[in-house]
Amino acid sequence: MATLTERWLRPRTPRTQFPPYDFGDPSIVGLAEARTSTVARIYHKGHEQAWDGRTTLDELSAKHGGIHFPEDKKEAFARVASVLLWGELAAWSISADLAVKLEDTPAKMAASSQVFDEARHFYVLRDYLWRAGIPVKRLGGWSRRLLVELLETENLMHKVVGMQLLVESTAVVMFRMIAEAKLEPVLTELLYYFERDEARHVGLGVLTLPDVLSGLTERDALRLWWFQTRMNLEMTFGGITLRHAFDDLGIDQGEMNLQGFKYHREILRRMRAEKPGTGADAASIKGLFQISRKGQDAFQEFFFPTRPRSAVSSKIFDTLVTVAEKTDRWLRERSPV
Ligand SMILES: [Fe+2]
Ligand SMILES: [Fe+2]
Repeated sequence: MATLTERWLRPRTPRTQFPPYDFGDPSIVGLAEARTSTVARIYHKGHEQAWDGRTTLDELSAKHGGIHFPEDKKEAFARVASVLLWGELAAWSISADLAVKLEDTPAKMAASSQVFDEARHFYVLRDYLWRAGIPVKRLGGWSRRLLVELLETENLMHKVVGMQLLVESTAVVMFRMIAEAKLEPVLTELLYYFERDEARHVGLGVLTLPDVLSGLTERDALRLWWFQTRMNLEMTFGGITLRHAFDDLGIDQGEMNLQGFKYHREILRRMRAEKPGTGADAASIKGLFQISRKGQDAFQEFFFPTRPRSAVSSKIFDTLVTVAEKTDRWLRERSPV
């Protein structure tokens, strides 16, 4: 019988595994669920914290006397919101895919509750944009490429690492920073609900991945590492193309990056705690992309310098920006209309 890790790397089809009779075996199910009951709790928590998107938006709107988004910030917010909105749609499909393909009951339950959350996030955010008179824009080339890769991969481990650990954690930080910028009162209060849901979604990855990662061969660990490195590059390029939009909104991208690093360290710490063994080589985080503290500081200083850049550093930075913007446009022009 395939191991847990193999089932995540190469999900079985219904032909070879349906129905999974062990779901009904009290001894096996009892043992497995005792171990993973925290994962099932994500599903139950999802029910407890579920909010009605229509009422919430209506009530917040009534409370603040309607939505009055500052005219001079609409264009910039439309660019950022495009990533958020289409990201929500991708998360909806990806979690639905996970709900179908994950084979153990608690993880299936957690993914199923995420489907409901993401559906709500998508329609509420779209409703908000429509009511605020903010155009729904097309996605930038690099952001689209990243989401398409996550949608298309058949490898469940890549999907969960990319979605739950990378995209969801970025979403948490972005929602928080946008809320703190207090652009418009309805949005500010609305984003609190989004952030709380996204934090649960990160939890699905944190709780399920350690068992899967610890069974990785060196080769598959390397493939995972490369997959995430690509995702991180795509995200960095996508972030570069949004820098003026964030500036116009008064959101400090450097601070957002710092918070992202902090959140990522926290994720790794929680995952290490899932299984004995510590340090960067702990089995529970095998293959995960990590940058040392020194590396993070260097990245931060290069992209968001606290001192004037040297001539060389300026030259490299400008070239990188040009490459990111040109390739983003190139990819965008080749995406379906
Ligand atoms: Fe979401
Ligand atoms: Fe999410």
